[in-house]
Order: sequence, then C-alpha cells, then structure tokens
Amino acid sequence: MKASQNRVNFGSKIGAILAAAGSAVGLGNIWRFPYETGNNGGAAFILIYLACVIIMGLPIMMSEFVIGRHSRANTAGAYRVLAPGSPWRFIGYMGVLAGFLILSYYSVVAGWTLEYTLQAGIGGFSGMKAEDFATSFIAFSQNPWKPMLWMVVFLVLTHAVIVMGVKKGIEKSAKIMMPMLFILILVLVCCSLSLPGADKGLKFLLQPDFSKVTPGVFLSAMGQAFFSLSLGLGCLSTYASYFNKETNLGKTALSVGCIDTCVAIMAGIIIFPAAFSVGISPDAGPSLLFITLPNVFQLAFGDIPLLAYIFSLMFYILLALAALTSTISMHEVVTAFVHEEWHVSRNRAANYVTLGCILLGILSSLSFGVLSHFLIGGMTFFDFLDALTSKVMLPLGGMLIALFTGWYLNRQIVWEEISNGGRLKVPYFKCYLLVVKYFAPIAIGLIFINELGVL
Ligand code: PFF
Repeated sequence: MKASQNRVNFGSKIGAILAAAGSAVGLGNIWRFPYETGNNGGAAFILIYLACVIIMGLPIMMSEFVIGRHSRANTAGAYRVLAPGSPWRFIGYMGVLAGFLILSYYSVVAGWTLEYTLQAGIGGFSGMKAEDFATSFIAFSQNPWKPMLWMVVFLVLTHAVIVMGVKKGIEKSAKIMMPMLFILILVLVCCSLSLPGADKGLKFLLQPDFSKVTPGVFLSAMGQAFFSLSLGLGCLSTYASYFNKETNLGKTALSVGCIDTCVAIMAGIIIFPAAFSVGISPDAGPSLLFITLPNVFQLAFGDIPLLAYIFSLMFYILLALAALTSTISMHEVVTAFVHEEWHVSRNRAANYVTLGCILLGILSSLSFGVLSHFLIGGMTFFDFLDALTSKVMLPLGGMLIALFTGWYLNRQIVWEEISNGGRLKVPYFKCYLLVVKYFAPIAIGLIFINELGVL
C-alpha cells in the first residue's frame, strides 16, 4: 500500500498514549460508570469490572493495536491489507458504521454538557430547587432548537480538531486536554471528599456487597468495559495505525486501561460522596448528571454559593473535555475510512462525516421532544441507536477482533508486533493468545446473548 508508507505518525509515545486514553475517557466513565456502579451493588461491581478490564479488555485492546499498526490503515482498510478478499473486512465496515452512529447520538449528550457548562458559568443554577432542575432539564432536552444547536457546535469543535490532522490536531489536543482533565478531576475529588458525610459514599464504593452480584452484574461489567475502553469498532486500531515502530503495544494498552479505570473510579469518588452527603440516591441514569448532580452541588455547598458555582462549572467543563477527546476519536475512525477508501482529501472526508453526523444527530436530538413518539422496536431513535451500537455492534466487533487475531492472523505477525520484532520481552504472550482464542470470544458471546435478552 503506497498510502501506508508516508502515513503520519504520532510524534511521541506520550502523545500516542494520551490520544488513546482520550478516546477511552469520556461520558462512559463519568456518567455511565457511576450509574452502572450505583445500580449493580457498588464495590462488588467495581471488582468485577476491574477483572473484565484486565483479563478481557486489555488483550482485545492489544489485538486492535496489532491490527492497526501492522496494516497501517483505517479500520476497514486494515482487513483488506491483512486478509485480502476475505469476509473479515466486514468487521471493519461494521466498525466504521458503529463509529458514525455512536458519534451522531453521543454528540447530542456532549452538546448538553456545553449548555450546562454555560448555565454553570452564568450562575444559572444558583437558588434553584430540586424540582426546578428536573423541569429545566426536561424543558431544555425537549426544546427542538437549543440542544440541536449545541450538538452542531460540539461536532464543529470536533471537526476543527480533525482537520488539523493527526499530529497537530488529535495528538496536540490530547496533550492539552488530558492534563487539564486530570487536574480538574483531582480538585473535584478533594472537594467531594471534604463534604460532611462523604464517608458513606466512599464506603459504598470500597466495601463490596456480594449479595447483590447476579450473573447480570458480570455481564453489565463486561459491557461497561467495552464501551469505556472504546473497544470493538476499530477506534483504537485506527489510532494504532499512527503508532510508530517503537511503541510498546502491551505497555500502551496497560497505560490506557489504567488511566481509563482511574478516571472512572475517581468520577465515582466525585459523585457518590457528594450525592450521599445530601441523601440523594446515585442510580438515576442520564438524569444523574443533568438533574441530580447540579442539585447536589447546590445542596452540598449551599452555604458558600461561590463554592457551588466553582464546583459545578469545573464539573461540566470536565465532562465536555472528556466527551470531546472521545468524539474526536470516533470522528477519526470514519474520516480515515472515507479519506483512504474513497480517495477523497482528508478535509473533504471530514466535511462529509460532520455533515452526515449532524443530519443523523438531529433525529437523535429531536427524539427527546417532537420525535419522542417516533419509535423503532419500542425505542426512541436515540435509544435505538444506543442499543444497536453498544449492545450489538461493539460486543460483536470485539468478539470478531479476538477471533481474527487468535485464529486467522499469522502467529508470527502477532508476535512481531507485540514484541517489536523480538526486541521486547513478552512473557505474557501465551496467556494473551489463550485469551483471544478462547476466553474472550466465549465471554463476549455470553454478553451478547445476555444483551439481546436471551439469558
Ligand atoms: N470510551 C468512550 C467513553 O467512555 O465515553 C466512548 C467511546 C469512544 C466508545 C470511542 C467508542 C469509541 F470508538
């Protein structure tokens, strides 16, 4: 492939790690993880989640890295290079489609974070009562124009980073935004822990209650690991196609897994102590972030309005930044595909992707208001896309990626990529192969069956 020879690379190891971690850290960590933890028994869920990340997530992430770096192509092109003429290429097509669909609905919620950042910034939450937060969220999300406008703004921001390119756009923005995100999280963790009664929230996070563990909890934890680590659609394989030959794939996977998990747990440490300290239940789903939490901030810091103001503003900025580093990665999956497979310039490819996502995103955005009666299989358009991608396409993609590297791809290629041509020691190689050949496909098969409601 000619294009692959002069393909750009990330400029540094840390840039590569931060970009991949930026993809992983997102609304999945700050919204979905606390909510899943709240619903599935707290610390017990976290332990199972950690096990899933270590024994399934990391090996599959390494498989995506092997596929991406060896092929040096977008996720669909990768299978054309590695398995020419075979049906494996459908993994790639499904990944591109999944990336496009997730980007379109994820941008709607990402857009909400901008509205809430603005509201927090102009002090719009001060003096509001519990019921006011619910009414104002419902009024906002049902309004046909405002959320749509924010979604477009969010996609345009994502677009701006993508057209700046891999090094100057994706890598540079990750190097700026990820440290900001870490600082914001640390400050918020300290604030939350200093609240009176915070220990109850902490106990909930740290003391496992195994009586709540059902087979469904295992399966939810695995599903969460997939979404949170951005696995199953070739997002990390697209980023790995920009890794250079020196990047240590095992170490990078471990760093990304650790960063993603730490951020998720710290989001829990921000949200649970704050919620428990004011006696609010932490299992409210999407409304946790947009109805419950602003209320928590007002109640927790009611005596010192300036603190409530700063805490809410920082939290929504954190959320918007985390969402942005993730939308950039999804956009890149589709842009790289359109650019390389349809042979159009990168800028034009990015234009197509942004425009397409805006059009589809409009339907998702309106599905909270005027289109709420338009149902597909009993779900709104937004819920349908969410279910289709996270419950069907990601687990299926992950399973196929594991099978592809475990059974189809030449063992020598996998070894050379993971050991950087024999220069690195990889004592875990056999273990890795065992997981991708047997353990991961079977385990994911189980999630898949469960998600479809068969179990
Ligand atoms: N991992 C992101 C999150 O936790 O919010 C979501 C995501 C990003 C999923 C990129 C899939 C993807 F390709």
